[in-house]
Amino acid sequence: MPEPITIVRTKDSRLTEDLRENSPFGTNYSDHMFVVDYCDGQWRDARIVPFGPMELSPATTALHYGQSFFEGFKAHRTADGRVALFRPMANHARLNRTAARLAMPELPESLFRDGLVELIRTDRDWVPRRDGGSLYVRPVYFGTDDSLMVRPASRYRFVIFTSPGGPYFAQPIRLLAEETYVRAFPGGTGDAKTAGNYGGGLLAAKLAQAKGYANVLWLDGKERRFLEESGVMNVMVIINGVAITPPLSGTILPGVTRDSALTLLRESGAKVEERPVSIDEVLSAQSAGTLHEAFGIGTAAIIAPIACIGYRGKDYEIPTGSTTGFAQQLKSQLTAIQYARVPDTHNWLLYV
Ligand SMILES: Cc1ncc(COP(=O)(O)O)c(C=O)c1O
Repeated sequence: MPEPITIVRTKDSRLTEDLRENSPFGTNYSDHMFVVDYCDGQWRDARIVPFGPMELSPATTALHYGQSFFEGFKAHRTADGRVALFRPMANHARLNRTAARLAMPELPESLFRDGLVELIRTDRDWVPRRDGGSLYVRPVYFGTDDSLMVRPASRYRFVIFTSPGGPYFAQPIRLLAEETYVRAFPGGTGDAKTAGNYGGGLLAAKLAQAKGYANVLWLDGKERRFLEESGVMNVMVIINGVAITPPLSGTILPGVTRDSALTLLRESGAKVEERPVSIDEVLSAQSAGTLHEAFGIGTAAIIAPIACIGYRGKDYEIPTGSTTGFAQQLKSQLTAIQYARVPDTHNWLLYV
């Protein structure tokens, strides 16, 4: 029998309407967090406690050897005033795949779901009410041994905390196709949500930003030819009416939004291809006028239109703003499901 989750409520809530409705992404956190520790082969002491700093040894495994990763998804206030999480168990499945890749113990499904639901219930007043608002949920899982031995830790901590955010109006972005740095390579950790993947990507993004781009368009690690990801989102291009996205071949993150978009596209009868797509193919289509759209796909923005790809010193403009295009259709379909404005026929919502 799993132990019950203990709850220690904060005595002074920080909740204000302004914090709940007007916080920029990832800057303010709700009152509580869910914490559970792993030690001696068991998960113990599941608890909800006031959100706040944690004491860690400077020798903590995660800080030195990178046994650290996170997840991200959202809770929405639905049309009928309830609170629903969007596909959290898909994130749980990905969490355990990342854990396995980093030689970390599996986190039981019931522990994840019960802790998550209890936390969102405890902080349900933090879920924004305004149109397009959501409570971003950030699980983080890391090794906590106090030891410099290079080996998998014997102790771990799993935490979930949340952050209110407003609608994300994705301005069309300019991306620089990156040929010097790579995000991933076959056999690496590209399909896992490891903290190190993000650290390794920051310099390329920073250099691209200095040149006026929002982020990089990652190309494959072997040939620097095939599209992989749009910054920290999956990527899709529409060529001649066909929606094309790189396959899950081990070097890209299997996005939950990508999977949801592919499901909706296939149901609508759209032509969809999961296959390698080269930068040459995309730019030839752009020249021929058959590249109709390109966009990033991920939890934060849902769909982020790409207005321009910079490649070898030249900028290639891409049409954006069509109200009947794939990007707009997908965004409105996905948000309608998330806010329960349409029936949840895929069973994607977990009500708390
Ligand atoms: C590198 C990377 N790719 C893709 C995604 C999109 O994944 P999801 O749709 O699950 O948010 C994310 C965001 O989580 C990401 O960090």
